Amino acid sequence: MIISASTDYRAAAQRKLPPFLFHYADGGAYAEHTLRHNVSDLSEIALRQRVLKNMSELSLETTLFNETMSMPIALAPVGLCGMYARRGEVQAARAAASKGIPFTLSTVSLCPIEEVAPAIDRPMWFQLYVLKDRGFMRNALERAKAAGVKTLVFTVDMPVPGARYRDLHSGMSGKNGPIRRVLQAMTRPQWAWDVGVNGRPHDLGNVSAYRGNPTGLTDYIAWLGNNFDPSISWKDLEWIRDFWDGPMIIKGILDPDDARDAVKFGADGIVVSNHGGRQLDGVLSSARALPAIADAVKGEIKILADSGIRSGLDVVRMIALGADTVLIGRAFIYALATHGEAGVKHLLDLFEKEMRVAMVLTGAKSISEISRDSLVRELGA
Ligand code: GLV
Repeated sequence: MIISASTDYRAAAQRKLPPFLFHYADGGAYAEHTLRHNVSDLSEIALRQRVLKNMSELSLETTLFNETMSMPIALAPVGLCGMYARRGEVQAARAAASKGIPFTLSTVSLCPIEEVAPAIDRPMWFQLYVLKDRGFMRNALERAKAAGVKTLVFTVDMPVPGARYRDLHSGMSGKNGPIRRVLQAMTRPQWAWDVGVNGRPHDLGNVSAYRGNPTGLTDYIAWLGNNFDPSISWKDLEWIRDFWDGPMIIKGILDPDDARDAVKFGADGIVVSNHGGRQLDGVLSSARALPAIADAVKGEIKILADSGIRSGLDVVRMIALGADTVLIGRAFIYALATHGEAGVKHLLDLFEKEMRVAMVLTGAKSISEISRDSLVRELGA
């Protein structure tokens, strides 16, 4: 087992959450090879220790699309985040804002755009999928714009949902799912009271706001399956690029050719990501995919990376491999599930401390000084 603060929060989250929710966040696609490799590949990347470099002045601050961030981390979009703590998106967004970093609201969040944006004093980021209902997409973009969102994260690696067998086993999907979920909730009274009873409405807030009636969550997985659009191509994204006047980040790039296409398309950023191992099992871990992508497009487009980041050391590793900023997903969800806003804030404090130690001992005084030179060993693709 890989030990990190998020490992401790993960264990606590498993005790606190109904199993279907824990496994929905924790699980990946098929046999979960990619999920595991995301974490284990990162841990094998050796940092290059340097000493006696007078590291008294250290800055973790960075700027992305004119937005100052206290450290190169943003909270990733996570579907159903609001099932992990009462009005969880608001709590996580507040924690991120208090640490001076961005929070990304998922399309399939519980709290709608209008509930989260006014709760924080910096613009949040908004994530959108390609859905069959283009009317919904346009409506969501308009509402995000009206709420002051500048940065759009566009997820492109989910034209179909990955096969998540853990969800079938846990009762998140499949036969008898609804009754199994109720029975599981009864075994977690603290969660049942805090989120099950007081965290309502349990609804895809953004979708309900558009439809004008509650979506409910009874068949969330089926909803995902029915609404994603496998016919999507770069061409379908053009209206969004034209409509959206802020930075547009394409999330779900694993190949240098796709990264070059994103540059050609006119995107402002990409997220090197395999969706946390939740889509196609057997693809490269982000840590293995990133260096070739950085070789292809670094400097032409901002590079973000996610999947497998569980500590501040991993953040430094991803930056060294070529990322400008990283996204963290599961790591903050476990902290949110156990201690809400305070838990996420604490986790981010730990990430910051871990980054500081890694920077002092690799001799990097600022984020721009972290490079492949900060590593002894990368991994081949
Ligand atoms: C949604 O994006 C998921 O990975 O479940």
